[in-house]
Amino acid sequence: MDNRPVGFFDSGIGGLTSIAYVMQSLPQERIIFFGDTARAPYGSKSAETIRHFAFQIARFLTDHNVKMIVIACNTVSAICLEELREAFPEIPIIGAISPTVRVAARCCRKGAHVGVIATSVTVKSGAYEKKLRKLRPDLSVKSVACPAFVPLIEEGIIDHEIMRQTIRYYLDGFLKENAITDLVLGCTHYPLIGGQISSLYPHLRLISSSEEAAGAVERELKKRNMLSEVRSGNHVFAASDVSDAFLRMVERVSAGKKEIADIHFYNLEL
Ligand code: DGL
Repeated sequence: MDNRPVGFFDSGIGGLTSIAYVMQSLPQERIIFFGDTARAPYGSKSAETIRHFAFQIARFLTDHNVKMIVIACNTVSAICLEELREAFPEIPIIGAISPTVRVAARCCRKGAHVGVIATSVTVKSGAYEKKLRKLRPDLSVKSVACPAFVPLIEEGIIDHEIMRQTIRYYLDGFLKENAITDLVLGCTHYPLIGGQISSLYPHLRLISSSEEAAGAVERELKKRNMLSEVRSGNHVFAASDVSDAFLRMVERVSAGKKEIADIHFYNLEL
């Protein structure tokens, strides 16, 4: 048993999509989340900058005595998951890409045409193609970067014509040209626009990692006998800029979930 908190981080509010599942399935776990809202988006930045930010945040989390780190960000996972694991060998670190790939490998039909949408950095890394082809060589996998999604989501522009137009701008041609049947949401921000994507393309199966990532947290904690017995305190939501947009999004993601009502906000200067 280990009552220390589980640390999560993302460039912004996207990581909250996986936290919601962890809070549901592991209510005894205390969570410390850091969203780097002042410096998001990460998805078009250089690898050096992303690595530098990721190490700062990992240190912030370890200073807060976390027992595990969940990188709730595909972009950071694509750039430096292994380096973070080497730098913090005493702490299990879970990335965002492998859980999503496992879901896709499990649920896509033989020979399916899989599309991956993600940030420019994640697409350029080729991480999804490599991992998915290894598990399912029969699948055709094509990726497209959608860099305008994250800034719009961070601004709370979701249920809006601008977002629908942006989705069509990136996906109309891509889905048609590649006869895509299954679409991987390769960025933790994208589940927040899953409803919009489904309403524009109802035939598509959407694959995201939020639920699977929560399962990975549970499995890893169980395996290491590190589950908490009781929640040791309130969840902590920290951000490098606690803007109205951040507060709105936390409220949106947590709406109606009683177990995450006791949230404290900290504005953190890195
Ligand atoms: N939510 C992040 C991801 O999963 C990063 C988005 C960004 O900051 O560009 O890739």
